[in-house]
Amino acid sequence: MGTPIRRDTMINLRNMLQRNTSWNTFDTSEDVANINTLLFKYGLAVSDCINSPTCVTYVISLNVDSKIKTLLNLEKNFAIAVNDNNCRVYQDGNRLCIEKRGADNTIRLGDLYIDKFAGSDKPVMMLGKDNTGANRFCDLSKAPHVLVGGTTGSGKSMFLHSLLLSLLMNHDDDMNYIIIDPKGTEFTWYQLLNNCKVIGNAQSAIYVLNWLCEEMDRRYSEIAKAGCRDIDSFTAKGNRMVRTVCVIDELADLMITAPKDCEQYIVRIAQKARACGIHLIIATQRPTVKVVTGLIKANIPTRVALKTVSAIDSRIILDRSGAEKLNGKGDMLFLANGSFEPIRIQAPLVTEDEMKAIPYMCATKDRKAAAI
Ligand SMILES: Nc1ncnc2c1ncn2[C@@H]1O[C@H](COP(=O)(O)OP(=O)(O)O)[C@@H](O)[C@H]1O
Ligand SMILES: [Mg+2]
Repeated sequence: MGTPIRRDTMINLRNMLQRNTSWNTFDTSEDVANINTLLFKYGLAVSDCINSPTCVTYVISLNVDSKIKTLLNLEKNFAIAVNDNNCRVYQDGNRLCIEKRGADNTIRLGDLYIDKFAGSDKPVMMLGKDNTGANRFCDLSKAPHVLVGGTTGSGKSMFLHSLLLSLLMNHDDDMNYIIIDPKGTEFTWYQLLNNCKVIGNAQSAIYVLNWLCEEMDRRYSEIAKAGCRDIDSFTAKGNRMVRTVCVIDELADLMITAPKDCEQYIVRIAQKARACGIHLIIATQRPTVKVVTGLIKANIPTRVALKTVSAIDSRIILDRSGAEKLNGKGDMLFLANGSFEPIRIQAPLVTEDEMKAIPYMCATKDRKAAAI
C-alpha cells in the first residue's frame, strides 16, 4: 500500500475546500396553509416540514382510512398549492410526502467533509446532502460500479469531479485513476498525478478498456494463487494491490466508436471486477437503449439520475420516472445498490480552484505550500 495521507496534511487539504457561509432558509407557512386547505375535506393536515439546504418536504401522517390513491392523484393540485410544477408527491410508509425545491443554497465540498470521512481507508466518495439535510456518502467497495445519466448541463461532469476529488483526498497514492474524457478539456489537471491517466480519444479508450479486462484476469489469478477471495483479504495478508477507478465522461462517444467491443469490455468488468478492486464510474447524456444497453444496465446496479429530458430517459437510468422533475445543477436521484427507492440528493458545486489545487497538492506532496 502507498503511504496514507498523514493527519496534518489532511488538515491542509481540508482547508482548501470551500464552504457555504450563508445559508438561506425557506418560508413554509404559505405552502402549509394551502396544503391544509386542500386536505381539509379528507380530514388530514401537514404534520411536519423537513427542511434541507435545497429541498423542503411536507409530511402528512396517514391512517388506515386515508384514501391514498385519491391523494396521490391530487399531484397537480398539490403543485398549485405549493406553487411548483415539479413537486414530487409520494407515499413513504404511513406518510404522504410532498417534496419541492426549497431555499436556493449551493452545497460545497467543504460542507460535506466531516471527520468520519477524513482519512478513511475505504474508497468512500461524497455524494451530497439528501432531502433531510444529512450528508450522504457512497463506498465504492460496496457499490463497485456507478452509472450516471442526465441531460447536458445537469451537472454530470461536476459530479464526477466531486467523486474524484473525494477519493483523492483519502487515497492520493494508494489508488489508480483512469479518466476517459473524449472532450479532452475537463479533466486535464489530474494529469499531474503519476497514478492518473487522462485519455482524450475514444479509440485509445477502447484499448484501455481492453487492457483493464486483461488486468482483471491477471489480478484474479494473483489473488487465487495467494489462496484469497478478494482484494481485501489479499491485501490483509500483506500483499500489494491497489484499487483502480475508471471514470468515463460520456459513454456514447465510446459506444459510437466501437459498440460491440465497448459493451463487451464494460460488461466483463462490471460483472467480475468487484473482487479485484477495479471500479467503473460511467456517465452519459444520452441514456438511450443504444448507449446504455440492457446488459450494461443489468450489471451496474448503483445508478445516479441527474435531471433528464423526459420520463423515458429517467426510466432507462433508474427503471422509474422522476428524474425529469429534478431541478438540474446537481439535483439528483441516487439509487443505491440493492435498494428499491431512490434518494434525492443535492451534489456539491466544485470550483475550478478546488479542481486545480487538490490534484496539485496530491501530486507534489507539497500540500502545505499549496494551501497558502
Ligand atoms: N452541484 C452543483 N451545484 C451548483 N451548480 C452546479 C452543480 N453542478 C453543476 N452546476 C452548474 O451547471 C453547470 C453545468 O455542469 P456540468 O457538470 O458541466 O454539466 P454536464 O456535464 O452534465 O453537461 C456548471 O457549470 C455549474 O454552473
Ligand atoms: Mg459534461
